[in-house]
Amino acid sequence: MKIISVVGARPNFMKIAPFIKAINEFNSNSLTEHINHLLVHTGQHYDVRMSEAFFKELGIPNPDINLEIGSGSDAEQLGYTMIAFEKVLVEHKPDWVIVVGDVNATLSCSVIAKRLNRKVCHIEAGLRSGDMTMPEEINRLVTDRLSDLLLTPDKLSSENLRNEGTPEAKIHFVGNIMIDTLEANKGKAEKITIEKIIQNNLIPETVSPPKIPNDGEFALMTLHRPSNVDSEKTFVPIVNFLTNEVTKNHILIWPIHPRARKQLIIHDLWDKVRNHPSFILLEPLGYHEMLRLNMGANIMLTDSGGLQEECCVLGTPCLTLRWNTERPITLREHGGASVLVGNNIERIREEYFHTLKLNRHPSRPELWDGHTAERIVKKLVEMNESKTN
Ligand code: UD1
Repeated sequence: MKIISVVGARPNFMKIAPFIKAINEFNSNSLTEHINHLLVHTGQHYDVRMSEAFFKELGIPNPDINLEIGSGSDAEQLGYTMIAFEKVLVEHKPDWVIVVGDVNATLSCSVIAKRLNRKVCHIEAGLRSGDMTMPEEINRLVTDRLSDLLLTPDKLSSENLRNEGTPEAKIHFVGNIMIDTLEANKGKAEKITIEKIIQNNLIPETVSPPKIPNDGEFALMTLHRPSNVDSEKTFVPIVNFLTNEVTKNHILIWPIHPRARKQLIIHDLWDKVRNHPSFILLEPLGYHEMLRLNMGANIMLTDSGGLQEECCVLGTPCLTLRWNTERPITLREHGGASVLVGNNIERIREEYFHTLKLNRHPSRPELWDGHTAERIVKKLVEMNESKTN
């Protein structure tokens, strides 16, 4: 069986690492079937810190093919990826194309794979925010509509697919592959000190050396969604809330995504944050470093999807700076650790002070057990066997 897996942007790397490991394990244990696997990186994320570093620390082999798409408008990223990926498909003719998550690579590669009559398998299928202004929602919808095998992380996602009329035979609940990576890397993360993370990643523009917080003495934040950082009207009040209120009782550690950094500079906020004595501004972190900080943070403020899931399992109380989520299973009302606060400051303030009173409350949705990748490989092999018999 020949498989091509695709990655494009940072959140894809932790989803593909366990899958590749499970393929390698299958190949070394199987006497009959062999999976011939190629990894394609579209190159949407290209900075060492956004991409290469994850390959090294998660033990992902170098991509067999890099399409080197880089930055661009949505249409440029989508179009150039399709043009380049079409050539890969024509040359290698895989049985399956595996796409993960909801980034631009997921959409482009599933569309062109179907156009060339390849079978598509979507890992992390069925997530729905219902928010069509999110590029990721469109990516998820199109990819799921086209996929032959839809592997869901939770039962709510399977239900979404059923409600859209997806044939039952295509839907398989396998669990959350991100948690495979979390489980495999927790031990390594625990060994890193907060001081070391700060030393290694402090942005060079930092004016004076920061006070190093202990576990339980800091808030952790990530922001990158266009809806939060691109508009002055939303971003400036958020940054004011951080500087005026969050830092009254906490040090704020903020690993900065390239998009957020650009917008801080554009909105004239860069000097304000880099000079603030309670802010620790870091470059984008590696996986282990982020996991380590998440384990010690008092509270998380984020608009990332993956972090909502990691907070759920680690129990870190989390404010999700969005009005909706495609991952409702991570919300407090479903037993998780996060609450939606959008980007309205009144709401953020109210939930922030309420959340500070909460203890860590780890919870583990069904099949978030660290063995999702094995189930995926098993399913693909079964489907291949039933085709050849
Ligand atoms: C992308 C994904 C999003 C994911 C996020 C995680 C899509 C539609 N969005 O958003 O789902 O949560 O990644 O990071 O695919 N840039 C760099 N260096 C890099 C990569 C990007 O400087 O290595 C810059 C780009 O030039 C661009 C900005 O960061 O100006 C945003 O990058 P882009 O790839 O457009 O989307 P993300 O916001 O990262």
